[in-house]
Amino acid sequence: MRAAIEAARTGRGKVRVAVVTKTQPMRSHSVSAEGGTAAVLYPEEGDSFESHIWDTVKGSDFLADQDAVERYVSLAPLEIIQLEHWGMPWSRRKDGKIAQRYFGGQSYPRACYAEDRVGFYEMSTLYDTCLKYDEIVFYDEWYATKILKNNGRFAGVVAMNLKNGEPAVFSAKAGVLATGGAGRIYSFATFGHSSTPDGYAIAFRAGMPLKDMEFVQFHPTGLVPSGILITEASRGEGGILRNKNGERFMERYAPKAKDLAPRDIVSRAMVTEIREGRGLKTEDGEDYLLLDLTVLEPEIVKKRLTSIREICIRTANIDPLNEPIPVRPVAHYYMGGVDVNIDGATELPGLWAAGEVSCVSINGANRLGSNSTSECLVWGRITGELAARFAMTHQPVEPVKEDVELEERRIFDKLLGPAPRLNPYNVKREIQSIMERHFHVFREQESMEEGLRKLRNLRAEMELGVEDKSRYYNTNLMNVLEIECMIDVCEVIGAAAVHRRESRGAHARVDYPKRDDENWLNHILAYRVVGGIEFAYKQVVLTKYKPVERTY
Ligand code: FUM
Repeated sequence: MRAAIEAARTGRGKVRVAVVTKTQPMRSHSVSAEGGTAAVLYPEEGDSFESHIWDTVKGSDFLADQDAVERYVSLAPLEIIQLEHWGMPWSRRKDGKIAQRYFGGQSYPRACYAEDRVGFYEMSTLYDTCLKYDEIVFYDEWYATKILKNNGRFAGVVAMNLKNGEPAVFSAKAGVLATGGAGRIYSFATFGHSSTPDGYAIAFRAGMPLKDMEFVQFHPTGLVPSGILITEASRGEGGILRNKNGERFMERYAPKAKDLAPRDIVSRAMVTEIREGRGLKTEDGEDYLLLDLTVLEPEIVKKRLTSIREICIRTANIDPLNEPIPVRPVAHYYMGGVDVNIDGATELPGLWAAGEVSCVSINGANRLGSNSTSECLVWGRITGELAARFAMTHQPVEPVKEDVELEERRIFDKLLGPAPRLNPYNVKREIQSIMERHFHVFREQESMEEGLRKLRNLRAEMELGVEDKSRYYNTNLMNVLEIECMIDVCEVIGAAAVHRRESRGAHARVDYPKRDDENWLNHILAYRVVGGIEFAYKQVVLTKYKPVERTY
């Protein structure tokens, strides 16, 4: 939506912007973002661009492109103010200025927030602003299944109207892919069920490389057993992680930052505590540790952590004012994505990508909490403007008719046609269980190879059936299309994870426990080729900072 607004502003009266969206925009999962949006707002009080750049680069385990981080940090404050001007109800300090809080790995309180409903308010503000532009038209509940090209240029997308099953071609001179990350490829995940890796898959199938897909972020505090996010802001406000003995175990793993170390470090510490017998178990045998908010002033929980208190009371019958919250690491974010340059441009002229689906890369091997919503805003603005300028200065290209026909045959003849074969929901569960078992916080060659083999076997047998033959709101058909995207993307994640023989950020290999800058200070690009996946490398852009040991 940030890209749509910027495209409309740039091409006022001269461009038409279609927002093609699988869900009604206010049901997109960004609405559930909780804790904060990072930006340096008050340099006069001690924060600085340099500090935000350094925290992000160090947090990324030195895999971030430093030129992109510099650009991100310098533009993020403008986006906070821009949202403010569009009506965003940021929480306030006593002096009336926008309030900020600590997040993991950020050495200054720089996460701007609106209670713990940041995503909801940001999305409301953006949606509301979009509605003010006649140039922007929403196509709600249209599912894009293929990127169209002609003569090496982006030509539009094929999308299906979920309400009546009608396919259509959206011809366009320029596009911005903004479909979010790989979402629900894990079963214990903070994502809504509609978050699936559709954007990654359609870009990959159209020939664009996926970059650094081995890096999956596990957020330390998923509520057990649902996986609902318990925001890092809980620890930013002073909450403490404890093991079954009541010990504040993070003091042993990150003596300075403690509970506010970056997510990769806290998640590894938690899994280690559980593996070494210092975790607890639910009646159903699920592992967990404790997040203690009883140490906070009750007013802080009530006023600044409103949602998570409500979530705990409603879904787990726990009031965090009185008792600790059961949590464990949960799949939350994908550092990798469609390879783009510093302007968000993909390899396909005319197509840009922004947000989690893209890999600029400012997050490298591990993203810092609160950097993602500001990344969405910064590259939403950049890509929206560039896409509109491109559209205004280029002739249209027609999509290739045969490509459209092929896609229609794939969906309506191959999937919807024959009798049901494998139950897609069993396949989805199987994919999720492979990812949970073989590509989790700690990884190891043999287990990952086994996981990859299982994924490939599943794909070879995967003749998914669509039981529901109707055209109207056929969610069964949509789910099958999503599952096909899941298997494509899981295979890339698995293959890239096997390929990278070092530990860096969120990719922690027990068989290669050290970072190896000599051999692996590179981005890995995965291309789709006949018969599989081919890897290439891209140099990491280092400007000021040389990799050093990462201690907290
Ligand atoms: O914990 C959180 O509120 C998550 C924020 C983020 O992923 O940036």
